[in-house]
Amino acid sequence: MPFTIQDLQRRKQAGERVAMVTAYDYPSALLVGRAGIPMILVGDSMGMVVHGHGTTLPVTVEDIVRHTAAVVRAGTDALIVADLPFLTYSDPESAVAAARRIMQDGGAHAVKLEGGAAVAPIVRHLVAFGVPVMGHLGFTPQAQHQIGIRAQGKEASAARRMLDDALLLQEAGAFSVVLELVPAPLAAEITARLGIPTIGIGAGLGCDGQVQVWHDLLGLFESKPPRHAKPYAKVGALIEEALRSYREEVEAEAFPTAAQSVKMDEAALAEALR
Ligand code: KIV
Ligand code: NA
Repeated sequence: MPFTIQDLQRRKQAGERVAMVTAYDYPSALLVGRAGIPMILVGDSMGMVVHGHGTTLPVTVEDIVRHTAAVVRAGTDALIVADLPFLTYSDPESAVAAARRIMQDGGAHAVKLEGGAAVAPIVRHLVAFGVPVMGHLGFTPQAQHQIGIRAQGKEASAARRMLDDALLLQEAGAFSVVLELVPAPLAAEITARLGIPTIGIGAGLGCDGQVQVWHDLLGLFESKPPRHAKPYAKVGALIEEALRSYREEVEAEAFPTAAQSVKMDEAALAEALR
């Protein structure tokens, strides 16, 4: 049974937590589905972890559409949310155009966008036309050159503003809000005051759900994962080991063996060479 926005809302009411993870392609989405994770984010973090950029800013609608379509083809029951890229939702018409492509051409079930009061009218506009919107407060990576890469809401005024922003997003019709790098007590308070579910990343146990980036969760990079991430496996090391074994076996003429080779009747070859 497909996991819906209504299921997500019911989970909050029942006090049941929800796990969400990013995925950017077909094989990873298949695994997410098999693991029973009910929500996938096709995040603009793809700019960094898939395309090797230093930030999420270069990601385009085209990127999101292509990766979302691959994720959708895995045919999971997950609710698929995709990010609206940097500066694609600064006015209602642009936001509608981007959401149209991501939902119609990509097949996403909902979109996510970053920001508070300033984007509330955009959220309201999208929601009015049937686009489910997830908000994103706290550390918002698209604004990283403005706010720096750090936790948000530590000071009273910033905490107050985040609480107000969360309520504004809810009033505008957002179905959920991501809280990224938000002090745990503040995230818990926002979660308690909102009727809609919060999904935390680096925001503590008090959120209604958690989201993690695929590469961080699986330990795909050598480098130290961000503080909010817990590597549940060392997949990067495993892949490297497999690749090294492959290279060594090719160089040692140990691969392929008969099992990976096509046989031919000796007589047929002899006849061909006559
Ligand atoms: O792009 C992304 O992966 C995200 C999550 C970190 C929330 O926005
Ligand atoms: Na993102």
